Amino acid sequence: MSEKRAIPEHVAIIMDGNGRWAKQQGKERYEGHIAGVESVRAVVRAAARNGVKWLTLYAFSTENWGRPAAEVEAIMELFCKSVMGECDDLKRQGVKVRIIGERTHFSERVLTMIDHIESYTEGGERLTLVLAFNYSSRREMVLAMQSIAQRVQLGELKVEAIDDDVVADSLMTRGMPDPDMIIRTSGECRLSNFLLWQASYAEFYFPEVLWPDFTEEEFDKALEVFARRDRRYGLVTDEN
Ligand code: FPP
Repeated sequence: MSEKRAIPEHVAIIMDGNGRWAKQQGKERYEGHIAGVESVRAVVRAAARNGVKWLTLYAFSTENWGRPAAEVEAIMELFCKSVMGECDDLKRQGVKVRIIGERTHFSERVLTMIDHIESYTEGGERLTLVLAFNYSSRREMVLAMQSIAQRVQLGELKVEAIDDDVVADSLMTRGMPDPDMIIRTSGECRLSNFLLWQASYAEFYFPEVLWPDFTEEEFDKALEVFARRDRRYGLVTDEN
């Protein structure tokens, strides 16, 4: 009898390599981001097909505001266009979209799109697609510490009662399981301020492929890699 393959409940992806892909093709950087949207579609389909319940994509870091204004503008435009173009299809697929990150610096239009996609897809039960947009893990932790300190100050929480759950419930990812697997494309091997608390027991996978070349097959390959990993959570298993 064949054993059931382990499927991660939550996969998180750092979509890297759009700029290099564009350069290789003799194109502008923003064209790499446009091509990257097709990979977003592909991984959403592949995640849903494989029974992954949570898919988190690092779409825009707090540090990304420092990129040339035209590139930032192009990414914001792409976000708005993607929301309008994809919302019906996402809903049809049973995908619920949630945006994490600070709701600061955005234009009114982007804020409207964020509200629209979240409320429009609210009923989705097959897969939750989390977009980290204006997200930084250190900032997330600072805000969590501030809110915990405030609750202590108000007498709502005792210092001794602060534990893993209190911290997790104070983060932007509250209510989400930790990622079982974190993928970063383009061969770079860093977390770049992404899900630092939540990554404690994640399996890491760093394929060489650039984000616009990350297809459904590449996602399936990542799941195969995950299924072969031996997760021990600091314990020992029968084999060792
Ligand atoms: C990293 O590649 C990619 C980004 C900073 C933006 C990711 C955005 C998209 C895939 C399109 C927008 C999608 C949504 C859902 C808003 P890079 O530019 O750092 O590539 P490089 O390291 O080769 O320069």
